[in-house]
Amino acid sequence: MLTLQTVKKVIDAVQLLEAKPFRFAKTMPAQAHWYTLRREWENSHEFSEVAQIVRDYGEDEVYYYRKYICFGANGQKYWTMGEEIEKTTLINRTTKQYRGPYDFHSATYDSWYERGEHKREEKALLDCLGNGFSDQKVLDIGCGTGWFLDHFHIEPEMYTGIDPSWGMLTQLVAKHPEFVNSLKCCSIRDFWPWEKGYDVVIAMGHSADYISPSDLEKIRFLTTEEAMFYGTCAIDAAYASDLFTEVFPDEKVLQPKVSKQIGMHHGLVAGKISEL
Ligand SMILES: C[S@@+](CC[C@H](N)C(=O)[O-])C[C@H]1O[C@@H](n2cnc3c(N)ncnc32)[C@H](O)[C@@H]1O
Repeated sequence: MLTLQTVKKVIDAVQLLEAKPFRFAKTMPAQAHWYTLRREWENSHEFSEVAQIVRDYGEDEVYYYRKYICFGANGQKYWTMGEEIEKTTLINRTTKQYRGPYDFHSATYDSWYERGEHKREEKALLDCLGNGFSDQKVLDIGCGTGWFLDHFHIEPEMYTGIDPSWGMLTQLVAKHPEFVNSLKCCSIRDFWPWEKGYDVVIAMGHSADYISPSDLEKIRFLTTEEAMFYGTCAIDAAYASDLFTEVFPDEKVLQPKVSKQIGMHHGLVAGKISEL
């Protein structure tokens, strides 16, 4: 479980990784990846600390019959070759590819919501959200095809949308091209931004179900003292379980915080993040 202190430590490590030079691994062009070398870091101790974080906060992945610990961060993943930390000479990096159902559904996703039942649900939700967030810094978790941007006016520099589905993000950019630089293709678990100070966190379309206790701690670190959360969770078993074979965290920490049913399947979680 992350604490505010460990979130800070991981974000510092990601900032270092993102600032260091990486070379393309020319000998393996078919497995495109990049690497950074210990000997090119001015501070070898810093390299060891970052390699340790890759190990401690990564997840097992099998690649060509071998297990690696891969650490996801802001759309990339990092891994070492598994030697002891002090003998580790390089950290690899490539684009993280997520498996999920939404790439397949993205082209038709918006049309699902044109049906009456969903329109009524949407109206109830918009009534709860009020007039807008135009002067606030917004983090939209599971932003999908851009439901929030379809309904609220905000400047691109005040908005960050994250979603692990390229398909969904492509649909968002087709509708809102000015937001192309406000997006990250990653899950909430893998979001380690340089920026913080968000005033509002949005997680609609049951995206609040992706938030684990550790993610909530990270959200606390990234937001202002008075920041507000507005999101929905699935409230019936079919939706809340394995809809589309999605991977949810073991503990959906926000489900017990649902205060109001919205439509047939969703419950609203709304409140100050410090009190969730
Ligand atoms: C039902 S859609 C909701 C999209 C949008 N918020 C809306 O209200 O229309 C759920 C979105 O969450 C994204 N998602 C899935 N796992 C996620 C995770 N671990 N972290 C963040 N987003 C995730 C999916 O790719 C999908 O776009």
